[in-house]
Amino acid sequence: MKRYVLAGCSGRAIGMFAKPIEEKFSKHARLVGMFDPNYKRMEFYNRQLKKPIPVYGSFSKMLKEQKPNCLIVATIDRYHHQYIIAALNAGIDVITKKPMTIDDKKCRAILEAGKSSRRKVTVTFNYRHAPYCSKIKELIHEGKVGKMLSIHFEWFLDTKHGADYFRRWHRQKENSGGLLVHKATHHFDLVNWFLEEEPETVFAFGSRRFYGPTRKQRGRRCLNCKHKRRCEFYWDHELRTLFVTI
Ligand SMILES: NC(=O)c1ccc[n+]([C@@H]2O[C@H](COP(=O)([O-])OP(=O)(O)OC[C@H]3O[C@@H](n4cnc5c(N)ncnc54)[C@H](O)[C@@H]3O)[C@@H](O)[C@H]2O)c1
Repeated sequence: MKRYVLAGCSGRAIGMFAKPIEEKFSKHARLVGMFDPNYKRMEFYNRQLKKPIPVYGSFSKMLKEQKPNCLIVATIDRYHHQYIIAALNAGIDVITKKPMTIDDKKCRAILEAGKSSRRKVTVTFNYRHAPYCSKIKELIHEGKVGKMLSIHFEWFLDTKHGADYFRRWHRQKENSGGLLVHKATHHFDLVNWFLEEEPETVFAFGSRRFYGPTRKQRGRRCLNCKHKRRCEFYWDHELRTLFVTI
């Protein structure tokens, strides 16, 4: 029985990890602890799981008491490295949501911790498992499209999906590294995976011209924004967000 603990009771982790572990894979795995600075979120998880999983406001206490085999990291991106490094140092495998981390310094710190640890870090790039992505990989891998000389990859975010990235913590670069890290990490991964190669040089240009402070008709929060009646991006968190009260 593999013992998992979770850092970050996020919207993403309940359906991706906590429920599948407890409901689908319960013969082989158990969620033995959850850590989040927000106790309300952990209470919500326990209500959803219909089980009293031990909850912790201290990450180190959770590792010490639960002695897990594997840590799942699903917090805000800027904090991933802290938990990944602490787990590697404690001799625990890690599964982390993408992006592994948000900048060069934090990435190097993780790689450094990896050198002196015998444990492994797995970054979950779930887009690889979208059927059309898996099919492209299969066609390339089996040589059905001939020898790959270059890949031109474009990804358009419509304003429905795109606006999602400018409402919550990931709208701030210090939390997410910006869209080129937070979102495009999937796309860079897909190209690397299709080609089975790693880039030697990377560069990017970008600017924000549409969302956030670049929009004239904006308020600090949707709920009390004076433009909310006419705004196509108005979002009522009280009605539409799972974690509204916490
Ligand atoms: N693979 C995908 O397609 C995909 C999709 C969505 C999100 N994600 C990733 O999943 C992760 C969670 O995203 P989300 O939008 O579901 O998050 P969320 O906003 O729902 O939850 C973030 C959680 O982190 C907690 N938190 C805040 N500060 C913390 C700290 N210092 N230490 C530990 N926890 C802290 C919050 O209390 C909250 O429970 C992110 O890394 C995100 O990039 C991946």
